[in-house]
Amino acid sequence: MIKPGRRQIEQIKPYTPGKPVEELERELGIREAMKLASNENPLGPSPRAVKAVARSLAAVNRYPDGGAFLLRGALAKRLKVKPESLVFGNGSNELIELLVRTYLKPGEAAVTSECSFLVYDLVVPAAGGRLRKVPMKKFTFDLEGIGSHVDRKTRMVFIANPNNPTGTMVREHELVRFLRRIPGDVLVAMDEAYAEFATDPRYPRSLRLLARFPNLVILRTFSKIYGLAGLRIGYGVARPEVADYLNRVRQPFNVNSLAQEAARAALEDVAHVRATRANNRRGFALLYREFRRMRIPYVPSQANFVLFRVPGNGSEYYQHLLRAGVIVRPMAGYGLPDWLRVSIGLPRENRKFLAALRQALAQLPAPSRKGRRSHAG
Ligand SMILES: Cc1ncc(COP(=O)(O)O)c(C=O)c1O
Repeated sequence: MIKPGRRQIEQIKPYTPGKPVEELERELGIREAMKLASNENPLGPSPRAVKAVARSLAAVNRYPDGGAFLLRGALAKRLKVKPESLVFGNGSNELIELLVRTYLKPGEAAVTSECSFLVYDLVVPAAGGRLRKVPMKKFTFDLEGIGSHVDRKTRMVFIANPNNPTGTMVREHELVRFLRRIPGDVLVAMDEAYAEFATDPRYPRSLRLLARFPNLVILRTFSKIYGLAGLRIGYGVARPEVADYLNRVRQPFNVNSLAQEAARAALEDVAHVRATRANNRRGFALLYREFRRMRIPYVPSQANFVLFRVPGNGSEYYQHLLRAGVIVRPMAGYGLPDWLRVSIGLPRENRKFLAALRQALAQLPAPSRKGRRSHAG
């Protein structure tokens, strides 16, 4: 067997994506299963994006525009940044990888938090780097703790904000304090895949911070609020010099033409974004209320999913929900064996999830709840 050149690659745990609906239906012989496991947009893509894709299909014999000229112009205008500040990727996942390939040498370190996005665990060791993970404080990135772990070997820091899977956020003043403390040659990547869902007014206006902190890079995506996860398109915003390096390293045609056109249309579809936010808000109101009624602890979220704790083995609850046709995300892989993460769905999906959870609570053996600390907000 041919072994990979880097020893770390053998130690990478493969990423486990949310279970696809079709797979569950095939396995259990059921119909109408639903997936609340990957933080997708339950309203679907913007109808304008669907039309744009249909219009562009006939031209897929051509390579895409490697510079994403039209999308770049539209997005630069929307974000009020220079077009040269932008870099596009095959999902923001690709940008995470690009950052590592561009800035991290083998033997160097990246720092993030425990219980954060697992893709950092894949790309850092694959590049021969070391990922240090600092414990969370109250399910939130501990920027003070992360700052203390930045040393001479550290080249970059990943901050998922809001964080997946906890849904918590760091606030603007905390971020600014952190950025002031961090050496200018350490790149700070703000992974803001869920930025558009955050409702807390203290959520950082990170784009404005780019002028003050040249080592800052902001990652966003069209997969979440814009509902284009299947097309794979995300972007980074950085100082033009940094964007230029990333653009040199990326594949010339990394973002396909359908994704570029869909993203441009989705950006214009303000009504779709508004409806998505409203659905999210209503979904949280229902879930929080019902969690409290069921005495289920949960972590208040700034994203489009919520972490909640079950009174028992998370995997058993996960399996029970699967049998009821509801796919959520087990959290044992994040070191939280009695927690699950559920994405906000359509109203009927949220109700079906809650009914299945209520049934699981009634049917699964519950250890004594005495002495269990509640995180309910
Ligand atoms: C924190 C975070 N960052 C990035 C991504 C990647 O999104 P995509 O590659 O679809 O843009 C996700 C997706 O779940 C995420 O949760």
